[in-house]
Amino acid sequence: MEIQVWDGALGAEEVGPPEGPAVVLVHGFPFDRRMWEGQLRGLSDAYRMVSYDVRGMGRSPVGDGQYTMELLVDDFFAVVDALELEEERVIACGLSMGGYILLRALERDPGRFRGVVLADTRSSADDDEGKLGRASAIRMLGEEGSAAYGETVVPRLLGSTTLAEKPEVVETAKVMVRSNDPRGLRGAQLAMLSRTDTTASLPGLRLPVLVLVGEEDALTPPETARAMAARIPGADLEIVPRAGHVSALESPAEFNRHLRAFVDRVEASAEGGAS
Ligand code: MLT
Repeated sequence: MEIQVWDGALGAEEVGPPEGPAVVLVHGFPFDRRMWEGQLRGLSDAYRMVSYDVRGMGRSPVGDGQYTMELLVDDFFAVVDALELEEERVIACGLSMGGYILLRALERDPGRFRGVVLADTRSSADDDEGKLGRASAIRMLGEEGSAAYGETVVPRLLGSTTLAEKPEVVETAKVMVRSNDPRGLRGAQLAMLSRTDTTASLPGLRLPVLVLVGEEDALTPPETARAMAARIPGADLEIVPRAGHVSALESPAEFNRHLRAFVDRVEASAEGGAS
């Protein structure tokens, strides 16, 4: 499946009953929509599960590699539009960079969402150290390419349990990074480097929100997730044990348990409201 955007077509995939509640999954960096295989497999019995490749990654076009967060949000809304939902409102789940995209999308148009899961992410923008880290990554990607970058970055993203006990997950993560065009990864780094801080808008959110975080997430650790959840009225926080920054890939069963409970709760409240 492909989703048309103004300058090309994004790679996408949809499984599950078309009449089920639609859940759009937005992957993290430097991966692609294959990151969500465990969620597509585990939850398509009941929900219309949709994943897509963020611009520059997976099967989506690299284009000129000049991306901003606004452009990535435009693409997300193009995906939601393409689903032709009855009320044009969706449940969305974003991990890390996917969370940055959803947090900005919520600022731009909160009316498009029924509920949001923010996994292993943060609302703050990069500080100076973070920006300089991205500048080094952009240079390394240019000089050495995606495979070398993957060897360096994957061990920093995955939790210590995954690194020690799940070599197949480590390999899956590295394969995704290797297969991405370094120009697309550099573009995504530029978009993240220049993104705005969405923290001030958190207290104004008026929709169901679940914050999920891997217990061993070193990039957006549980304290960061807890502080973000505390700013969002009524938000729930759940910790995924023995998982790092890519909790959906590292511990799909536990991640899915929380995602399923959340979607069921959003559905139940919609039905309650309708009666
Ligand atoms: C991600 O997992 O999407 C990235 O670690 C996000 C980031 O680099 O800030």
